[in-house]
Amino acid sequence: MAKKVYELPELPYGYGDLAPDISEEQLKIHHQKHHQAYVDGANAILNKFDSRSGMEFDVKAVAKELSFHVGGFVLHKLFWENLAPAPKGGGEPTATIAKYIKRDFGSFERFKQEFSQAAISTEGSGWAALTFCRGTDRLFITQIEKHNVNVIPHFRVLMVLDVWEHAYYLDYKNVRPDYVGAFWNIVNWEEVNRRLEIELLSSGLNLVDNRRILDMKLEEFKENFDDWLETLK
Ligand SMILES: [Fe+2]
Repeated sequence: MAKKVYELPELPYGYGDLAPDISEEQLKIHHQKHHQAYVDGANAILNKFDSRSGMEFDVKAVAKELSFHVGGFVLHKLFWENLAPAPKGGGEPTATIAKYIKRDFGSFERFKQEFSQAAISTEGSGWAALTFCRGTDRLFITQIEKHNVNVIPHFRVLMVLDVWEHAYYLDYKNVRPDYVGAFWNIVNWEEVNRRLEIELLSSGLNLVDNRRILDMKLEEFKENFDDWLETLK
């Protein structure tokens, strides 16, 4: 049976479509050079796994490389998908994600301020992330250092902002706050909401063996997400 490898995903828009917030030149080099480098790095590790018999195999070193390169590959894919050109991109969230943001942060403005602060203050290279914990049914803003440090295993990533210098230096030089400000013009809230709803739905389905809990979950959905529940029928 053939084994799969990582592949560079196509962007869901053209290279020039996010300008002026992210220029064509910046987006092209970020996607074609930097994201590609993580694809190549991850595949080189897969190659090590596939050819390890008969050679010295440093599990600790390979495991560390794996988390870095695969983390870089996955986070970039999530990043491209949670961006969109205007008029789809930007504005304020609606639907389920809007309700969660209001409940957990008080207001969208407050959330925006905290997320921006997380992005601006990420030390060195890394990411700001909006995540969801299904165990506590809460949203959390987290900072990921590099591509793999401070990652909480079961937290679903709903939205990320790449704050590596390679993401913005051509357009914004060293002024990261301006890049973070521009990010809000191109957030694809529909995609962020879709990720949250999939997580909510799958957490309900995982409880299928326990009918009582499943029913209780559905009751919660009925109370809080009438619109969303309609789509399940
Ligand atoms: Fe990047």
